[in-house]
Amino acid sequence: MIKAAIMGYGTVGSGVYEVITTNQKSIDKKVGQELRVQYVLDLREFPGDPVMDVLTHDFEDIINDDEVKIVAEVMGGLHPAYEFTRRCMEAGKSVCTSNKELVAEHGAELIRIAKEHQVNYLFEASVGGGIPIIRPLNSSLTADVILEISGILNGTTNYMLTKMSREGLNYDDVLKQAQEKGYAELHPEADVEGWDACRKIAILTSLASGNQVDFQDIYTEGITKLTTEDFVYAKKMRCAIKLLAVSRKVGDTYCAMVSPALIRKEHPLYMVNDVFNAVCVEGNMLGASMFYGSGAGKLPTASAVAGDMVDAARHLGKVITTFWNPEKLTLAPVSDMTHRFFVRMRSDAKDVKIFGDVEIVDADIPGEIGFLTPVMTEAEYAAKAKDLEIISMIRMEG
Ligand code: HSE
Repeated sequence: MIKAAIMGYGTVGSGVYEVITTNQKSIDKKVGQELRVQYVLDLREFPGDPVMDVLTHDFEDIINDDEVKIVAEVMGGLHPAYEFTRRCMEAGKSVCTSNKELVAEHGAELIRIAKEHQVNYLFEASVGGGIPIIRPLNSSLTADVILEISGILNGTTNYMLTKMSREGLNYDDVLKQAQEKGYAELHPEADVEGWDACRKIAILTSLASGNQVDFQDIYTEGITKLTTEDFVYAKKMRCAIKLLAVSRKVGDTYCAMVSPALIRKEHPLYMVNDVFNAVCVEGNMLGASMFYGSGAGKLPTASAVAGDMVDAARHLGKVITTFWNPEKLTLAPVSDMTHRFFVRMRSDAKDVKIFGDVEIVDADIPGEIGFLTPVMTEAEYAAKAKDLEIISMIRMEG
């Protein structure tokens, strides 16, 4: 029998417990022996919940039990998750996590510590919830050079943007609905300001490049400035507006960005709606591939954590190689990235021609004009837009 522990009995932690107990027989068969949850760590009490049989309030119970070989860290946040993860691995326990904050900040270091102690640090659930994307990048696609990763990596904002587009609702109303549904946090900045998607594309770019990509280096724009008028224009252009995270190979490095983007009907990400996530990966040999599914939520995320626990159980004493070195990758400047830009300006503006051969988009909105620029770099756009009164700008993808 292999003993396991779960640190944190919140949404994901209770999901992991549910996955393992519900699918116990099938999991045991796949591991080749019994995998049992011996401890669930949480400061709270859960009267009436069967978890009470294995609940502990003391981390030392887990660390001092040498028979515990696998620990799920689903507490979230940096501290004490970082310290607990380190101590578990130093004590010979593999750790499986959904904690993208911790993986983005300390991934390379924790992978190194795992290797030094002949255990594994696995983090499939940290990007795309239940969608397998970390393992494919780390094993199936290793013969390719990854040219581009583009994805809808945040379920909350995708739900909000889908609602704004379908129902013509404004930002504040959809945010309230997302909070009522339990998707958005009470303090939803991490989702709506794009920080969550930024951490996820940093993790994917680290795996694609094999070096540490600091999420703080990635240009990030959220969805807070989008208005109902933007969606009227988008419909005229037969486009959806999505919060897009992109990482593109440029020479020996990558250029990465998170921002709202206009996605044409023909693009595979156009149909990704509600809380669903999708990641398109382009390899130099493979060409395009797409990974799609439930990007957030209790059971999809728990399924990915529990899948990692099975993998860790199958690899006791063996290190699964993860291509992610601590040397920092200096990203290419965003100013060199090229796009078409959709721009809204006041209709008395005489300066549209400064952008060259623009395509006017008529959405019957009084007092303003909307147009698409030709392809240009971010730097060229910024130079032209510098002294103009721009109402809003959204990049066009592809
Ligand atoms: N807040 C995240 C989202 C949860 O909405 O996608 C999953 O990482």
